[in-house]
Amino acid sequence: MLKLQTQKNRNYEEIYLMKEQIPLLHKLKDYSIKNLSCFDVPGHVKDQGVEVLNKYLGNQIMCMDINSSPTMDNVSNPNGVIEDSQKLLAKAYSCDEAFFITNGTTQAIQAMILSVINPNDKILLPRNIHKSVINALILSGGDPIFIHPEFNEELGISLNLEFENIKKVLEDNCDIKALFLLNPTYYGACADLDKIIKYCKEKGVLVLVDEAHGAHFPFHDSLPPSSMSLGADMSAVSIHKTGGALTQASALLVNKINVDIGKIRQIINMLQSTSASYLLMASIDGARYNLVKNGKSQLSKVLDLAKYAKSRLDNIKGIKVASTELVNYKGASYIDESKLCINTRGMNLTGFEVYDLLYKEFNTQVELGDLYNVLALVSIGTTKDDIDRLVESIEKISKEYFKIKKINLVKIKQLIPDIKYNPRDAFYMEKESIDMEKCINRISGESIMAYPPGIPIIAPGEVITKDIIDYIKALKQNNAYLTDMKDKNLKTILVIK
Ligand SMILES: Cc1ncc(COP(=O)(O)O)c(C=O)c1O
Repeated sequence: MLKLQTQKNRNYEEIYLMKEQIPLLHKLKDYSIKNLSCFDVPGHVKDQGVEVLNKYLGNQIMCMDINSSPTMDNVSNPNGVIEDSQKLLAKAYSCDEAFFITNGTTQAIQAMILSVINPNDKILLPRNIHKSVINALILSGGDPIFIHPEFNEELGISLNLEFENIKKVLEDNCDIKALFLLNPTYYGACADLDKIIKYCKEKGVLVLVDEAHGAHFPFHDSLPPSSMSLGADMSAVSIHKTGGALTQASALLVNKINVDIGKIRQIINMLQSTSASYLLMASIDGARYNLVKNGKSQLSKVLDLAKYAKSRLDNIKGIKVASTELVNYKGASYIDESKLCINTRGMNLTGFEVYDLLYKEFNTQVELGDLYNVLALVSIGTTKDDIDRLVESIEKISKEYFKIKKINLVKIKQLIPDIKYNPRDAFYMEKESIDMEKCINRISGESIMAYPPGIPIIAPGEVITKDIIDYIKALKQNNAYLTDMKDKNLKTILVIK
């Protein structure tokens, strides 16, 4: 005889399922609705005390903003519900251990580098890295050896690394401790990770990966491979970018055979707040659950939508969308097809101009504009209507704003400055602020970058050339958002005395 499914045992089963599958999110919700008198921080005591926050953020969020306690575990040395949730994250990403990181992949990268790179250890890396990597080298004292990523002149962007180039540098420098890779680059280009990781293992070189833009990779076969499944040692991943978690929620993923897991935990604790946000951590729990359960179907839809967008965009006069064919596979063994790198050059409009037009005239927010491209991300929340609006907006821009006159853009080339001092030595040296025009051949004492993408144009310890100054000037003229320099208006540059 079949058992009768009553409402009561159905609820029980559902709760049991949720406890198992989203342990942290479920327990946080439970905790927030308990009739608990709270005499701990935060001071807003659930949804009491700051009416305006309830009004703007909602009561539920305020009630779920809690601090650690024995019931709710503690992220610094978890042995309860956070540990359970981190284990599920490690399983989802096919690695040995996963750590929640609440200050974005910036913090995950810093922890990753500090836990294996000691002062003057050599680390091989592409120059198109995010600023957090240079800052991690300032903290750790490591010596960077930069390798030229492939460069596509038509798109004006750096791509990823070629295996042969990495092999050559590793053969010539047997004291390199770690290779740092992007999987993918900001624009979606991926290297032949499998081949690179296997080679590094043979050579005894650690592989550290920045997967800020690759949180979705493990959940669909048509996306580029993820680094953990191929045996990389560590990966810093922004679950908040393409994985669906709340902004700033990231993870450090570890395969522990070649690294010291206890030291990694200590370093994370050195960098992480002692009041790590439960909202952020629980959002990782929920996003991971969603990716495991629905990722394949959601990402199939993403890839279909991106394909549909690309086919329509490629028919617009003056528009080309980057693909592996377009970049000729150099520095892009794979391209993440969910990213639409839309080249606007053929319309004689800069990416900055199209970015502004999209927002101001068409209510459309894309990820970034640069001199030649706009980058639009298709993600698990994107709808066909969104895609149609993007395509139709760009159609209108092509019809109404297409310029006959070629724009006078700088010829963008690969800018890989010479290094005079390692970033930490340069950081601590005496410096002076000099008029930008007079900085040619001086050594930079600071990082300068456009954000996004946050890739330093010049970093501490690097030689400033005329090309660099010209490029910075072109970015300024195009109202790029420049950041991290001492002089907010960038009339002067901080150089080593
Ligand atoms: C390639 C890359 N790495 C790391 C980061 C830092 O990630 P987060 O914003 O999560 O700190 C970014 C952010 O834009 C990035 O583009």
